[in-house]
Amino acid sequence: MKSLLTPFIISLFTWPASGFALDIERGQELHDSNCTSCHAAIYSDKGNEIYTRENRKINSLSELDAQLKRCKNSLGTNWPEDQILDLQHYLNSTFYHFKE
Ligand code: HEC
Repeated sequence: MKSLLTPFIISLFTWPASGFALDIERGQELHDSNCTSCHAAIYSDKGNEIYTRENRKINSLSELDAQLKRCKNSLGTNWPEDQILDLQHYLNSTFYHFKE
């Protein structure tokens, strides 16, 4: 009985911690499969150029957060907060480079 319970108890302690680790790859996957096509349609064939265009709208981490949430809402998704943070972290570390 003890050996059956041990992995369960260990996972109880480690599971919440894994929820806080930022995962850039997961953020990129989420981004590429949900966000790129619309940006490509409205801005340029390579959707990611919207983030590096000269007159880009985003000038701080909080503006990035706000725009990301607006765009996410237009998709009608209900992603958990940690996935949204992964996505934000991916965008920031790849394109914007604001101090976190
Ligand atoms: C239905 C279309 C659509 C989808 C889907 C979409 N976006 Fe956008 N996004 C836009 C439009 C339109 C703009 C330009 C807004 C402007 O210029 O004021 C934009 C701009 C942005 C910008 C700001 C670019 C800049 O100027 O620096 C960010 C960041 C962004 N989107 C993130 C996302 C993310 C992350 C997702 C996926 C969760 C996403 N968007 C999905 C339409 C979309």
